Amino acid sequence: MITSKRKVPNILITGTPGVGKSKMSELLAERTGFTWLDVSKLAVENGCVESYDEDYRCSVINEDQLLDLMEPMMSEGGKIVDYHGAEFFPERWFDVVFVLRTNNTILYDRLVARGYSGKKLEDNIDCEIFQVILEEAKESYSSEIVHELQSDVPEQTMNNVDRICQWIEQWKKDNQ
Ligand SMILES: Nc1ncnc2c1ncn2[C@@H]1O[C@H](COP(=O)(O)OP(=O)(O)OP(=O)(O)O)[C@@H](O)[C@H]1O
Ligand SMILES: [Mg+2]
Repeated sequence: MITSKRKVPNILITGTPGVGKSKMSELLAERTGFTWLDVSKLAVENGCVESYDEDYRCSVINEDQLLDLMEPMMSEGGKIVDYHGAEFFPERWFDVVFVLRTNNTILYDRLVARGYSGKKLEDNIDCEIFQVILEEAKESYSSEIVHELQSDVPEQTMNNVDRICQWIEQWKKDNQ
């Protein structure tokens, strides 16, 4: 059991690209006053990148640099970390992990609308079908703190935000 000295919890929002992590994190940050950290953006803005992946058309994060950058932020608590991976963060950073899930057909349409095609599109759909991020989260954190949330329609995003707000209130009571 990891005992946290944080007065407010840190939350990891993860899942396959396109499942709605950023949209939900933004709403959650507005509701809670917590700080939303979009990890890919944070890495690029702070030069924590080491190369460019031509196949996936995205920057490759320098994980060590990024972890050093995030460490003092995470020790403050009250962070919503939004990233399509769950395994390279230290386990002690998070009090809860939410894995967003989207129906394959819906996700396919969303990624096409975003301009994804070819290998990038197929690999991301496979990632969701094979629950890659969910498995990664369960392997990286204690299974009691990992929760799946469905994110097919906007109403679910609103319900998920409500549910996380309730979870935060309970955490505060339990950690006074
Ligand atoms: N629950 C939902 N219902 C319908 N559309 C949604 C839902 N959640 C997100 N979307 C839409 O799907 C698209 C992708 O959402 P978003 O950018 O939040 O995904 P993401 O998980 O942050 O992706 P990435 O990992 O690539 O950053 C956006 O157009 C967003 O408006
Ligand atoms: Mg995003």
